Amino acid sequence: MFWLAVGFVLSVTPPVIQGATNTFVWCYHDPSCNDATWPSKAPEFCNGSRQSPIDIVTKNATLNQNLTSFTFTNFDNKSALTKIENTGDTVKVTLTGNVRVKGGDLPGTYDSMQFHLHWGNGASVPGSEHTVDGKRYPMELHIVNLKSQYNGNTTQAAADSTGAAALGFFIDVAENTTGEPAAWKTLTSYLSNITLKGQSVTLSNEISLDDLLAGIDRTRYYRYLGSLTTPLCYEAVVWTVFKEPLKVSKDLIDMFANSVHIGNSTSPLLINCYRNVQAAQPVTHSSSSKINISYGLFVFISALWMR
Ligand SMILES: *[C@@H]1O[C@H](CO)[C@@H](O)[C@H](O)[C@H]1NC(C)=O
Ligand SMILES: *[C@@H]1O[C@H](CO)[C@@H](O)[C@H](O)[C@H]1NC(C)=O
Ligand SMILES: *[C@@H]1O[C@H](CO)[C@@H](O)[C@H](O)[C@H]1NC(C)=O
Ligand SMILES: *[C@@H]1O[C@H](CO)[C@@H](O)[C@H](O)[C@H]1NC(C)=O
Ligand SMILES: *[C@@H]1O[C@H](CO)[C@@H](O)[C@H](O)[C@H]1NC(C)=O
Ligand SMILES: *[C@@H]1O[C@H](CO)[C@@H](O)[C@H](O)[C@H]1NC(C)=O
Ligand SMILES: *[C@@H]1O[C@H](CO)[C@@H](O)[C@H](O)[C@H]1NC(C)=O
Ligand SMILES: *[C@@H]1O[C@H](CO)[C@@H](O)[C@H](O)[C@H]1NC(C)=O
Ligand SMILES: *[C@@H]1O[C@H](CO)[C@@H](O)[C@H](O)[C@H]1NC(C)=O
Ligand SMILES: [Zn+2]
Repeated sequence: MFWLAVGFVLSVTPPVIQGATNTFVWCYHDPSCNDATWPSKAPEFCNGSRQSPIDIVTKNATLNQNLTSFTFTNFDNKSALTKIENTGDTVKVTLTGNVRVKGGDLPGTYDSMQFHLHWGNGASVPGSEHTVDGKRYPMELHIVNLKSQYNGNTTQAAADSTGAAALGFFIDVAENTTGEPAAWKTLTSYLSNITLKGQSVTLSNEISLDDLLAGIDRTRYYRYLGSLTTPLCYEAVVWTVFKEPLKVSKDLIDMFANSVHIGNSTSPLLINCYRNVQAAQPVTHSSSSKINISYGLFVFISALWMR
């Protein structure tokens, strides 16, 4: 997950972080600035004790009945995705128009600020940030939400242990299709306009968050307390990682690693833009509605049979 860059990231490659006690350059691709260097360069948070991402060990995740369904507001708004941008570290889409999320045992309402993506090197070299029982998915989408009371002020949200809520969606290959789903074809069609760091274009009201997130059960998820996955790694994030992956065709997944540069046209392509997994955290999960529906049916039919 990426913080809103305002005030922290200067427009050079790689980004320069200016925190209260640190000034340092970070990146994914170079051993002099990749994630192995972050704990020593920004120990206050990047070497903390609730760092993200993590490997989710499914047999260690405990059922939490409080993890009810979410209320997603304006996720159907086709005007809410306003700008798509190559930051040099990710592809980021800015959200406007009162997009919000609450419920799901989140402590309050959160405003959705942006979403961005993490990927590897094409569909065959996976690059999700979270892993599940060691499995890394091809990509991961993060929707970044800030507690509404902070009105988008990242400094205030960073100082609250639940100041941000991140929604993580795995992306897996949709087999035997190309150019699917249509919403993802539309989104990826803009990558050719933002091949260089700092480039951005306006999106033209064609797709909503619901369009991009179609096809999965958003009541089935994991929950843990963690951090931003990029410097300065603030430990201020309530993580929700959905169990079911979104399905996107290989050709569209491949476009990310084939289109976007980390800097100008002579710079390397942006690939493997994810942080490696950090120390395990206690993970809970929502009850499986599917299993419970079948269990409910079983009980119901058994009751009929017993009469
Ligand atoms: C990170 O923290 C651990 C203990 O929590 C400590 O042993 C280690 O030296 C720290 N590393 C850095 C680079 O500060
Ligand atoms: C999973 O739980 C077992 C038993 O509680 C523990 O030994 C193990 O370290 C845990 N693994 C992770 C990755 O959390
Ligand atoms: C569920 O919520 C109740 C009431 O807030 C709380 O007492 C309980 O500890 C929560 N359970 C879990 C697993 O978080
Ligand atoms: C949808 O988003 C647009 C652009 O931000 C905004 O002007 C509009 O008010 C939003 N629609 C609703 C129903 O909130
Ligand atoms: C965010 O909040 C901090 C601390 O309250 C304040 O100093 C800063 O000016 C605020 N930033 C903006 C952009 O409002
Ligand atoms: C995709 O096509 C191959 C070859 O026709 C077939 O073996 C495979 O089962 C198909 N996969 C899916 C998910 O339909
Ligand atoms: C994106 O680039 C294509 C040509 O590659 C151009 O036709 C289109 O107008 C551009 N879109 C935007 C939103 O700038
Ligand atoms: C691209 O960036 C590199 C490193 O910053 C610089 O040396 C080079 O001159 C730039 N090339 C172009 C075509 O702008
Ligand atoms: C189904 O729901 C019941 C009651 O709400 C709960 O006790 C049970 O653990 C759930 N089963 C699964 C598999 O989540
Ligand atoms: Zn992210």
